[in-house]
Amino acid sequence: MKAESRRDKRVFITGASSGIGAALARRYAEEGAVLALVGRSSDRLNALQASLPGAERHWVYALDVMDTAALWAAAAEFMAANNGIDIVIANAGISHGTLTRHAEDLPVFERIVATNLVATVATFAPFVERMEQQAAQGDHGCRLVGIGSAAGIRGLPGASAYSASKAAVITYCESLRVELRRSGVRVVTIVPGYIDTPMTQSNKYRMPFLMSAEKFAAQTVNAIDAGVSYRVIPWQMGVVAKLLRLLPNALYDLAFARAPRKARTTAHPRAKPPAQNAGSGTAQKPE
Ligand SMILES: NC(=O)c1ccc[n+]([C@@H]2O[C@H](COP(=O)([O-])OP(=O)(O)OC[C@H]3O[C@@H](n4cnc5c(N)ncnc54)[C@H](OP(=O)(O)O)[C@@H]3O)[C@@H](O)[C@H]2O)c1
Repeated sequence: MKAESRRDKRVFITGASSGIGAALARRYAEEGAVLALVGRSSDRLNALQASLPGAERHWVYALDVMDTAALWAAAAEFMAANNGIDIVIANAGISHGTLTRHAEDLPVFERIVATNLVATVATFAPFVERMEQQAAQGDHGCRLVGIGSAAGIRGLPGASAYSASKAAVITYCESLRVELRRSGVRVVTIVPGYIDTPMTQSNKYRMPFLMSAEKFAAQTVNAIDAGVSYRVIPWQMGVVAKLLRLLPNALYDLAFARAPRKARTTAHPRAKPPAQNAGSGTAQKPE
């Protein structure tokens, strides 16, 4: 599809203040889209907005994607001001290593699942009804876009929360895609391999097929336009993902037992039990 057909698209992007989200925002802005830029850092969102073509047309929403009320308010304002919506990209996400033996990792696990999975659902929710109405009136361009990860294809050691959250995003998007199939609203699942962003820049290990955020954004925008159901980007990681799926557990376990691990947010030398005096049964917060 040519860039021309993307002019004046209304695009709502979470996690726009950094990495992939910022690159997608730039790509869409260059093609004439009107953007809602969502993230927690108002400084980075404002700086991005000011740097984009058509800066004054774009909206900044400094909010936490776990704040459902704030998401609904932002969605309502953006749709009212722009007379609808075309594309919603639930891109905000976090990644930390987690180990089950460490009680203090449980809140980190919860935060990763809440940000990556639950907030994806919360991001889509305010738009579904409006998109269904637009589709019923012949609009074939409505897209809900989930961002999975190659780490969600098989469980990676040391990244149980992240792998589980991204596997869940992929499966959730598939459920939603089939639910909405008859409405005409398309659900697109994008599965990034290694993309060069602040999320991966701290990784101390080799990252095969590492791709720039700009190149990733260009390919993602094309996939969204085409309304594909599922795409791994870059394609080489797609081949690896297919092979990984076919690999029997015994071989997978052998190959990945010594795989490099993502750093934990709190590196404690020993597992600690949950606090005894709280009486709530909840784990200690990370220090
Ligand atoms: N980079 C990769 O290789 C890779 C691979 C597979 C999947 N992904 C996925 O791609 C997405 C973008 O990642 P990235 O690489 O661009 O990482 P990044 O540079 O760290 O950006 C993450 C973005 O998410 C936002 N965010 C995080 N928590 C948030 C919250 N609670 N509320 C609102 N915004 C929040 C951050 O904004 P604020 O800090 O301003 O809130 C930031 O804009 C993530 O879902 C990630 O899991 C990335």
